[in-house]
Amino acid sequence: MDTEKTYVMIKPDAVKRGLVGEIITRIERKGLKIIAMKMEVMDEAKAKEHYAEHSEKPFFEGLVKFITAAPSVSMVIEGGNAVKVMRTINGSTKPFEAAPGTIRGDFALDTGRNIVHASDSVESAKREIKIHFGDKKCLRYTRTDDCCLYE
Ligand code: RTP
Ligand code: MG
Repeated sequence: MDTEKTYVMIKPDAVKRGLVGEIITRIERKGLKIIAMKMEVMDEAKAKEHYAEHSEKPFFEGLVKFITAAPSVSMVIEGGNAVKVMRTINGSTKPFEAAPGTIRGDFALDTGRNIVHASDSVESAKREIKIHFGDKKCLRYTRTDDCCLYE
């Protein structure tokens, strides 16, 4: 299993609904490790850069407005196959199709209010970590269950 880093955002709708702890708990209990974390109101330039691939889509302006309107939580998450595992934990982009047991399946209904983001590839993760954390070093520490999580 490859140890990977991925970028995860708890979007403003989740912050405003008091779901930060619930979401972080799901990430931690899976065995994934938080190695960087901050809370901020994202500025427009950063939001546009983050969602650059969608700049021509009809929902782009609304998405940027939504992401910059209230605080969000940004994290770097590390672990075995972290990119794929985080996408699975989050569930389908459209919450009305997301499976129960996933974050979106359990807590969201609308695509424009789907409460979490996770990078869709290792390359995207590198790009997004750079956007949100620059050259800052991620933290290194041992979790007491590290020894039991991997073969
Ligand atoms: P994300 O990037 O936020 O993790 O979501 P995703 O990969 O599952 O989905 P993506 O296709 O990258 O879409 C990015 C975000 O844009 C918003 N969206 N709104 N109103 C709409 O039709 C629509 N489609 C996409 C969602 O917030 C989606 O997560
Ligand atoms: Mg995406």
